[in-house]
Amino acid sequence: MTARPWIAVAAATFSSLAITVTLPASAQSSPQPKLRIGFMLPYSGTYTALGVAIENGFKLHVDELGGKLGGREIEYIKVDDESDPSKATDNVNKLIKRDNVDVIVGTVHSGVVMAMAKAAKESGTVLIVPNGGANAVTGTMCAQNIFRSSFSNWQPAYAMGEVAGKQGKKKAITITWKYAAGDEMVAGFKEGFEKAGGQVAKQITVPFPNVEFQALLTEIAAAKPDVVYSFFAGGGAVKFVKDYAAAGLNKTIPLVGPGFLTDGTLEAQGEAAQGMLTTLHYADGLNTPRDTSFRAAYAKSFKLQPDVYAVQGYDAAQMLAIGLAAVKGDIGKKAEFAGAIEKAKIDSPRGTFAVGKSHNPVQDIYLRKVDGKENRMVSVAIKGLADPARGCRM
Ligand code: BEZ
Repeated sequence: MTARPWIAVAAATFSSLAITVTLPASAQSSPQPKLRIGFMLPYSGTYTALGVAIENGFKLHVDELGGKLGGREIEYIKVDDESDPSKATDNVNKLIKRDNVDVIVGTVHSGVVMAMAKAAKESGTVLIVPNGGANAVTGTMCAQNIFRSSFSNWQPAYAMGEVAGKQGKKKAITITWKYAAGDEMVAGFKEGFEKAGGQVAKQITVPFPNVEFQALLTEIAAAKPDVVYSFFAGGGAVKFVKDYAAAGLNKTIPLVGPGFLTDGTLEAQGEAAQGMLTTLHYADGLNTPRDTSFRAAYAKSFKLQPDVYAVQGYDAAQMLAIGLAAVKGDIGKKAEFAGAIEKAKIDSPRGTFAVGKSHNPVQDIYLRKVDGKENRMVSVAIKGLADPARGCRM
């Protein structure tokens, strides 16, 4: 036999062997382990409903994808952050160090989210923020592994200032909780309002999460501003809007705010909220096929109407799904994971948006008017509004 035919016979023999040989279990490609997602959200206190809506929205999208992201099954680990900044570092470290999560989704409260961003930045764990608007998260603290599916506090606040100023209001009083979200939502309003010719005469604050407003409403009535701008959310928003109306102020001084003042709260606020104008990146009555199908699916799953928090949770899952699809579930490929989200157009119920360089949504801000149980869209107050992302160096 010449050399060449022998090689051909040997090759044929080995290749047929290869077909019939069974590899030992250790050599077979094993499925990737479950992706561990840590929800750090408020499940108690004034922001409870917001945390639940975020979790619902997130899970709705995961279910739409057949329960897997990037080919990996999911395991959820939950921590109640109680909207308490003093417990935030311990809580987030439990998820990172004890529970070894791959991704953290959270939270609602700006003070808590700051501690989460710090821990995520130090550990490199992926963090997707589905609400907490603290400007610094996508400003001075911005990082390759930190993303926001919601808003910065500046965005809806600035828009409301511009709207109120353009309506010809000259003198405003602001009232909010004394913490990062309240401070930043007042600062954003002031910036937009003063640019449009208005003046903020007085800034009133209440410790978070207090809801004793009586004496402050008397002070507002005496000062007779053209408009009152306010940030409260969840249970606090219900109480403030009702107290404002009970004091008769809604008949004489319009109450406006970022949309958190009336989102997910109208059932409880009822008559007290009627006619109120707010600005937000979501609204009722968008009437797009995307929003209509999202709302129908959410209502079917949870027997509830979705609100802005549900949308933000849903979009957090969309962003995670996009990043994980690009790396086939290997979340350790940080640059590719981040690059995929940076390039994406997120097909949100609110309308399509992209994240800017700082990883915060660049999005339309709607002017809405309360009509019955809806925050009806009146107009687009500002199209494609990007946060200034002050101090972000990536
Ligand atoms: C915040 O703390 O960032 C926040 C809480 C509720 C609604 C909106 C913002």
